[in-house]
Amino acid sequence: MDCDLKRKLLNGLQSDPKFIPTWYNYDDVGSRLKCQAANRMKDVESCFYLSGAQNFVAEHYVREIIPKGPYDLTLVDLGSGNCSPARPFIDEMLRRQDTLTFYPLDISGDFLMHGVHHLSEDYNNSLVIKPIVADYVKGIEQLRTAEGPKMILWLNGISNLSYQDQVNTFRLLSKVMTDKCCLVFSADITEDRETILTAYNDATGYNKSFIQYAIERLNREERSEIDVTDFEYNVDFIPNQDPDSTSYVRAFIIAMKDIQYPIPGLGVDLSMKRGERLYFHEGAGFSCKYTLDQLRHIVDKAGLCLEETWTDDNKHVAFCRCSRTEELL
Ligand SMILES: C[S@@+](CC[C@H](N)C(=O)[O-])C[C@H]1O[C@@H](n2cnc3c(N)ncnc32)[C@H](O)[C@@H]1O
Repeated sequence: MDCDLKRKLLNGLQSDPKFIPTWYNYDDVGSRLKCQAANRMKDVESCFYLSGAQNFVAEHYVREIIPKGPYDLTLVDLGSGNCSPARPFIDEMLRRQDTLTFYPLDISGDFLMHGVHHLSEDYNNSLVIKPIVADYVKGIEQLRTAEGPKMILWLNGISNLSYQDQVNTFRLLSKVMTDKCCLVFSADITEDRETILTAYNDATGYNKSFIQYAIERLNREERSEIDVTDFEYNVDFIPNQDPDSTSYVRAFIIAMKDIQYPIPGLGVDLSMKRGERLYFHEGAGFSCKYTLDQLRHIVDKAGLCLEETWTDDNKHVAFCRCSRTEELL
């Protein structure tokens, strides 16, 4: 982990309230746990609704979502995971053009490279893959060298950033876009409280295992011995219709007694009083849920214009296509 990220992790553990940033869950093991949670929960009653809804919209509307133009496009995929969610877009683009240059970008390097390996086996020379292993800020900076009109995908990724970081990241993206580029992102638009809470605290425990994996990683990489049984896991949903905000989930563990665990790799102790919370995200919450108005506002703040949206029948997910606002060009 690079020094900047380690500093952010340390800041979170020393702030009030304490938190572990959501990106820390995503290394190779965490990314696999996340995939397992999404796949296995398809088969159980407490289904995690978002992956299914996202696949449905991508498969049904991919031809409309990709803009038609006289030029070939380059595809970028932010927070690409194992690259599977980008496949319908790759397939459709390769129906329209002979070759495609593809920039998958993710902080979870090993997991990304497994996906890249499978893609290169499946697509041979028609797909030129240029993986970027970095966090969003550094990765988007590297995109400045990507030539030609770009379609930038960002699937199920914005919602885990703090609200200000969502705006900042959209703004960074608008700066690497020209009038021939577009951004397509997906966002959770679910409103039903019970569906949401069931998904994050499901009876099978898959999502709880993924969320609490941050502690396991801390123990392994920073040589702490934090015992999760000293804590109680909890999730909460905070609805918010304010156009300049979002609804969000809060996931946290509560110390059941006073605890003090040394974290040798970070040179600090995790000290918590009984009843104190440790959050698994920065800012007010994570896994934000949006109204279409909120989505329009947030991209507008970043110099982007929401052109068109596509949703599933159950209204769980919205795919949003944006262009760069003209004054900025
Ligand atoms: C919820 S998953 C979505 C994966 C995939 N796009 C999908 O739709 O299923 C979020 C992805 O973003 C990556 N990620 C999280 N925080 C990141 C950051 N700060 N910079 C770059 N990638 C990040 C994670 O490793 C993970 O692959």
